Amino acid sequence: MNPTPDRSRTRRKFLKMLGASPLIAGSGILSVGLAGLLRAEPLEAKHFLGWLENLQQSDEVISSPDQALDVMDFEPAARKNIPPAHWGYLATGVDDDATVRANRDGYSHIQIRSRRLVDVTNIDMSRTIFGTKWDTPIVLSPVSAQKAFHPDGELGVARAAGKMGHLIMLSTVATASIEDAIAARGGPVWQQLYPTNVWEVTQAIIKRAETAGAPAMVLTVDLHDGSNRETLFRAQRVDKRQCSMCHGGGYSPFARGKPGTSSSKGGFADYIARKPMFDGLDVSKVTELLPLAMSWDLVKRLRDTVTVKFLIKGIVTREDAELAVEHGVDGLVVSNHGGRAEDTLRPTIESLPEVVEGVAGKVPVIVDGGVRRGTDIFKALALGATAVGFGRPHCWGLGAFGQAGVEAVLEICRRELRAIMRQAGTTSLDKITRDYVLARRA
Ligand code: FNR
Ligand code: LAC
Repeated sequence: MNPTPDRSRTRRKFLKMLGASPLIAGSGILSVGLAGLLRAEPLEAKHFLGWLENLQQSDEVISSPDQALDVMDFEPAARKNIPPAHWGYLATGVDDDATVRANRDGYSHIQIRSRRLVDVTNIDMSRTIFGTKWDTPIVLSPVSAQKAFHPDGELGVARAAGKMGHLIMLSTVATASIEDAIAARGGPVWQQLYPTNVWEVTQAIIKRAETAGAPAMVLTVDLHDGSNRETLFRAQRVDKRQCSMCHGGGYSPFARGKPGTSSSKGGFADYIARKPMFDGLDVSKVTELLPLAMSWDLVKRLRDTVTVKFLIKGIVTREDAELAVEHGVDGLVVSNHGGRAEDTLRPTIESLPEVVEGVAGKVPVIVDGGVRRGTDIFKALALGATAVGFGRPHCWGLGAFGQAGVEAVLEICRRELRAIMRQAGTTSLDKITRDYVLARRA
């Protein structure tokens, strides 16, 4: 990225903003230091930058997966490894990143009501979804372009998930194909679907994923081209690498608030050059990955086309949940795209109960957004989730240590979920009901 004349100011703002982010301020290692520093106004920029730069060499950042005490410990370790623009892509929300913070904060407003004197010698965390039994309800949500975080990319994540028995979803714009992901996983992988604005391309992606053996197609409906990813844009400004070597400068779904922007330089073909799910497809008419014209008509059309299970990801209201069920959808993912679509939304954990009411037990409901602890998973299950998804955390593990980092993230989450199930006196997932949570009093 080309440095601007005002680069140091931009960088200061970016670093300060990063510091204010709960992703960092809430992380185990940084919480005391950085949060404290930011509270101690006025803050000398020089001092702050020096402190952060020192931290990059600091022993406090974990250097192997087994040093991690919690999932957040992987975040600074990943940030150390990942180039700034790619890090910005992983961390970014939109506008002020308020929805990113809200997703995380939402869990702190719910408290657990533990029961005592229950024999918790045996804890069963398994969950059956569409007839398949999974060891745990912990799912890896689709995250695009994972080779931007580590060369292991999606295949490292798939291998880790396979080894540990987790359900994963592969992004349409992943840096690995569905065939390779299924081979690496050694079992089924759900295919996430971005339809583009060209039906023939949508059909071809579905056909390919179904032929490869994907047992479910997950249409993401919560994001349109042009979301305002300021954290990403600021990170791009401080990245000194020649990013145009890889990103040709054609189409981008995040073109500074201009939906459907496709430059004459390379257009969509340029954008999907490293995205194997588009290999061999005629994309000459594609101008949008996440079309503005998406509506329930597309859902009807897809319902008639998809021969495997068909889910919608990104539902946050009862009304849309009811409509989805009316349209014959097989499952929902309550999600706000990890705060990357609209700012100032409710946390997904607060959207979950009305969506669960909307589906009235007819289809499974997965929730993601801000889940970082076993207690978060427990709360989501108590509020009616069938399973719970992670987005950024497994990419922190990946960015920090490749496949081994993803395995460690999953292991920590499983350990934490088992611990809270024991503590609360719930020996299997069906026992975790609404009686085990309550809203925190103000
Ligand atoms: C995403 N997410 C996403 N969702 C989707 O349906 N298709 C995609 O390709 C992507 N890509 C993507 C990239 C990156 C870098 C992130 C962080 C997220 C959203 C993802 O599936 C999930 O909904 C959120 O990440 C969950 O929030 P947390 O766990 O990141 O807080
Ligand atoms: C993102 C898209 C690709 O959130 O899902 O970056």
